Amino acid sequence: MKRMVEVAVLFVIKKIGIAVACETLKLAKPLLGNNSQMRMALPVNMKLIKGELEIINAFLKEIGMNGCNSEIIETWTRQVRRLAYDMEDIVDQFMHVVGEYQQKGSWACARKVFKKHQYLFSLDEIAAKADMINKELMELSNRIGRWTQLIPVVSYNPAANYDSELLYQSGHDHSINDNELVGIDVNREILIKSLHLQDTSLRVIAVWGMGGLGKSTLVNNVYKNETISSKFSCHAWVSVSQSNKMIDIWRNMLKEIYGNDNRTFDAGSMNSAELRVELMKILDKKRYLIILDDVWTAETLFKIREVLVDNGLGSRVIITTRIEEVASIAEDGCKIKVEPLNDHDAWLLFCMKAFPKTKNNICPAELHQCGKDIVEKCDGLPLAIVAIGSLLSLKTRNIKEWRLFYYQLISEIHNNENLNRVEKILNLSYKYLPNYLKNCFLYCAMFPEDYLIHRKRLVRMWIAEGFIEQKGGCSLEDVAEVYLTELVQRSMLQVIARNSFDRIQCLCMHDLVRELAIFQSKKENFCTIYDDTHGVVQVGSDPRRMSVLQCNNNIQSSIDPSRLRTFIAFETCITTFSWYSFIPSESKYLAVLDLSGFPIETIPKSVGLLFNLRLLCLNDTNVKELPKSITKLHNLQTLNLERTEVLKFPQGFSKFKKLRHLLSWKLLDATYRSLNNWDSMEPSEGFWNLKELQSLNEVRATKVFVAKLGNLSQLRALSITRIRSSHCSQLCNSLSKMHQLTRLHIRAINKDELLFMENLTLQNPLEKLDLVGHLSEGTLESPFFSAHGSQLQQLELAWCQFIGSPVAQLSKLSNLTELRLTRVHTCQQINFHGKLFQKLKKLVLWDLPQVNQICIHEGALVSLECLHIDSLKKLRDVPIGIRFLSSIKEAYFTRMHSEFVRNLQTVKLNHISKVYWSTEGVCSVEREVTNLPGPSSTNPQWRILGGSGWVFI
Ligand SMILES: *[C@@H]1O[C@H](CO)[C@@H](O)[C@H](O)[C@H]1NC(C)=O
Ligand SMILES: *[C@@H]1O[C@H](CO)[C@@H](O)[C@H](O)[C@H]1NC(C)=O
Ligand SMILES: *[C@@H]1O[C@H](CO)[C@@H](O)[C@H](O)[C@H]1NC(C)=O
Ligand SMILES: *[C@@H]1O[C@H](CO)[C@@H](O)[C@H](O)[C@H]1NC(C)=O
Ligand SMILES: *[C@@H]1O[C@H](CO)[C@@H](O)[C@H](O)[C@H]1NC(C)=O
Repeated sequence: MKRMVEVAVLFVIKKIGIAVACETLKLAKPLLGNNSQMRMALPVNMKLIKGELEIINAFLKEIGMNGCNSEIIETWTRQVRRLAYDMEDIVDQFMHVVGEYQQKGSWACARKVFKKHQYLFSLDEIAAKADMINKELMELSNRIGRWTQLIPVVSYNPAANYDSELLYQSGHDHSINDNELVGIDVNREILIKSLHLQDTSLRVIAVWGMGGLGKSTLVNNVYKNETISSKFSCHAWVSVSQSNKMIDIWRNMLKEIYGNDNRTFDAGSMNSAELRVELMKILDKKRYLIILDDVWTAETLFKIREVLVDNGLGSRVIITTRIEEVASIAEDGCKIKVEPLNDHDAWLLFCMKAFPKTKNNICPAELHQCGKDIVEKCDGLPLAIVAIGSLLSLKTRNIKEWRLFYYQLISEIHNNENLNRVEKILNLSYKYLPNYLKNCFLYCAMFPEDYLIHRKRLVRMWIAEGFIEQKGGCSLEDVAEVYLTELVQRSMLQVIARNSFDRIQCLCMHDLVRELAIFQSKKENFCTIYDDTHGVVQVGSDPRRMSVLQCNNNIQSSIDPSRLRTFIAFETCITTFSWYSFIPSESKYLAVLDLSGFPIETIPKSVGLLFNLRLLCLNDTNVKELPKSITKLHNLQTLNLERTEVLKFPQGFSKFKKLRHLLSWKLLDATYRSLNNWDSMEPSEGFWNLKELQSLNEVRATKVFVAKLGNLSQLRALSITRIRSSHCSQLCNSLSKMHQLTRLHIRAINKDELLFMENLTLQNPLEKLDLVGHLSEGTLESPFFSAHGSQLQQLELAWCQFIGSPVAQLSKLSNLTELRLTRVHTCQQINFHGKLFQKLKKLVLWDLPQVNQICIHEGALVSLECLHIDSLKKLRDVPIGIRFLSSIKEAYFTRMHSEFVRNLQTVKLNHISKVYWSTEGVCSVEREVTNLPGPSSTNPQWRILGGSGWVFI
C-alpha cells in the first residue's frame, strides 16, 4: 500500500537539510554574528522548522494509511504546503547570501554587497521571516490537534484504502462485454498460443502497457473462456496492486484456489509461512493457471514466484503490468505489449458504448464530428473510451450538449462520478511513482498537449528546479536521464524519437495522463496551466509555476507573481508579453524563465534582480544584447540564446561559476548551402573559467581561447567554429586534456582553410563527431580514426575533399550508427562492400557533386533504416542493390535530377514503407508522412529542404 505523501513538504525538508548542514553553517557563521538575537537564532529556527515538517510528513503518511480523507485534513495540508513554499523561498535567499559571502571572501566586502542589494533582502529579514514561519507552523500543528478530535476515529484497516475500491472496478468487473471487444484479436491469439501445452515447463507470460489499455480485459477474456481454462485444473486471479503485503497476496491466492474447490478453509488464520507451504503443496500437483493482475514491482513478482513451483505439467502464470521492467522478467516470446486502439477501432468501441440501443451502433450524422473530437481525446485508450462513451449514452443526442461536453471534458474527468474510474486508474500510476519522480512528472504537464518535449530541454529544466539529486559520481544530467527512462518505463511518458544510437530524443505525454498531471498540479499548487481559449481559467491560489499556453485576454490579476518559481510561455502574443514585463521586478524567486519564441528585442535591465535564476532561455527571440546586470545571476546553470542575435556578452562573464550549458548561435543562411550557415558567439574573457560548463555550442575559435580551452575539463559537448590552420595544433592539444567530451563539432572558417586534425586524441570515446572543412590529407588514417574511431557512433564529414572514396576509408568505423557526407568531393562511384557498416541506421549523402553511381553489395548496411540522398546532380540511376537493404523503413531522394526520379518509378521499392522524392524545387510525396522527427533542440544540424518545406534532422 502506498502512502499519501506531500511531495512539496518532502522537497522543502531536503532543501533545509542542505542549508543547515554543517558545511553551510560553518561558512555562514561570520554572517550570523552575535549582535542580533534573531540572526543568531536562524539556524536553530531552520532546524525546528525542518523537524516540524518531518513530523507533519510522517503524520500525513499515517493518515494516508488510514484512508482518512477529511476536508479538515485537506485544508490543513494546503496551509502546510503554503508555509513549506514560503520556507523554500527563504532557504534559497539564505543559500544565496551564504554563496555570495563565500565568493567575496570577507565580511566587509559582503556587507557592501548587502547594502547594494538592500532592496532585495538582508539576513535580518531572512531571520525574521524564518522566525515567523516557525511560529506559524507551531500554530498549525496546534490547530490540527484541536480539530482532529472531531474527525470520527478511523480504525486501522489496510483494506480500506483507495485502491481496493479501484480493484473492485478494474479487477474482475470488466464493463466491456465480450461482443464489444475491439482490436484485441491479434494479442488474444498470441496469448492463447502461449498457453498451449507443448511446453510442459512453467511459463510466465507478461501483458504490459500503460494503464487503461485494457490489459486485464484481454487476459480476463481468455481466463474465463471455458475451452481454454478447462485445460487447467487449478485457477486463481490475484490482484497484486491490492496490497503490498505478501501475506495478503498468498491469502487471496489460496482463497481463489480453494474457492474453486468449494472447500471450507480458514486462510485468514494462517500465517505467512503456513500459507506458503500450503500453496506450494497444492501447486506442486496441479496444472495451474494463475493471473497476477497489475504487478508494480519486479521484487513483488520474484517474491510471488517462490510459491509458483515448476511441476512440469505445463502450468502458466500471466501477469499484467504497466512497468516494462516487470514485463522483462517474462521470456522473450512471452511478452505481449498492448498498444492503443487505432482510430477505426477506437471509433467502433466508442459507438458501441455511446449508442448501445441504436441498430449497428450508428452515430447520428450531426454528432459525428464532435464524437470524433471526443474520441480523439482518448488517444486509443479503451478504458477512457468506454467510460466517456457510456457517459454520453446517458446524455441527450444534442450537438450543443455534446460540444459543451467536449469543451468540458477535461474538467468532467475530475468532477463527474462516472469518470472516476479512468481518473483513478491513471491516478494510481501517479500514486505509485516514487517521490523523486512525482515533481518531474507533474512538470511535463506544463508543455502543451501533444507537444514534442526534447530530452535536453526537459532535463535542464528539472535540474534548474532542483528536482534531481546528485548520486555518486554521476552528473545531474545523467541522473535526470535515468529518471526520464523510468517515467517512460512506467508509461507516464512516451518516447517519440530516439537518435541512431537509441538515446531518447523527444517525448510526449499521453493526453489523459497529462490531464491527470494537471489535475494533481492544481491540487498541489504545483503549477497553473494558463489557457483561456474556453473562457475563464481556474487559477489555484499562489501557483508556484506558470505555463502560458493560450492567452486571449489579459492574464488574470489574481495570479501573484511574487511566488512564481517558473515562467514558461508557449503563447507569444502581446498580452502575455505585457504581463511578462513586470516579472523581473516582482518574481524575485524565479528559477526558470523560458521565453522561447517571444517577439522581444531586449530583456529588462532588472533581470539581474533574479538572484535565484537557474535557467534563462531566450531561444528564437530577437534579443540583440544582454544587459550588464545579467552577470549578477550567479546561480545561472543554463543560458540558451539559440536563434537570437546575441553573439557577444557583457564583461564579467566569469562570474557565472555555475553555468553548465551555454548555447548561442544565429542562423545566417536558411538554405543551408554555405559552410557557415550559422554564426557563433565570441568567446569573451573568462569563458575558460567556467569550470562546470558541459555544453558550449557554438563558439568561435581565437588563438587565446583555443589555448585555454583545456581548462574546461567538464565539457561534454563542444561546437567550435571559424577554425584556422594555425589553431589546429593547439586545439588538438587542448582537446586531449578533456576527459568527458562525447560530442564534438569542428568547423573551419571557410571552405579553403586546411584543417590539420591528424594529432587529435581524446581521453574519452566520442559518440558524435562533425568535421566541417577541408581536411588535410591523411586525417582519416590518423591515430584517432584508426585506434579510437571504432567507438564513434555518429559522424558527419562536410566540405572535405577526398581523392578516393571516403566510404572505403571509413570502413574501420564499425560502430557507426549514423553517417553524413555533405558537400564532399569524392570519386565518381561510391561502393558499399559486403559487411560494411553493419550497425549503420541512418545514411545521408548530400550534394556530392562527382558521384554518378552508388552501389550497395549484399551484406552491407544490413541495419540501415533511413537513407537520404539529396542534390546528387550527376546521379541518374537508383542505387544499385537497394533491394539488399533489408531493414530500411524510409528513403528520401530529394532535389534530384528529373531523370533519376523517372528511373525511380521503374524500380521496385516495396520493401520500403515510406519513400519520398523531389526534383529541384518540386516536391512530391509517394506515401503519407507521419511522425517526421523534429529538429533537435540544441544541435543546429537540421535542414529545411528547399522548396518543399520538409524539415527534419
Ligand atoms: C561579537 O562580535 C564582535 C565583533 O562583531 C567580537 O568582537 C566579539 O568578540 C564577539 N563576541 C562573542 C561573544 O563572540
Ligand atoms: C473460447 O476460445 C475459443 C478458442 O479461441 C473460441 O473458439 C471460442 O469462441 C471462445 N469462447 C468464448 C465463449 O469466447
Ligand atoms: C603532430 O604531432 C607531431 C609530433 O608531436 C608534430 O611533429 C606535428 O607537427 C603535429 N602536426 C600538426 C599538424 O600539428
Ligand atoms: C562498439 O561499441 C561497443 C559498445 O559501445 C563497444 O563495447 C565495442 O568495443 C565497440 N567496438 C569496437 C570495435 O570498438
Ligand atoms: C527553440 O525554439 C524552436 C523554434 O521556436 C523550438 O522548436 C525549440 O523547441 C526551442 N528549443 C528550446 C530549447 O527551447
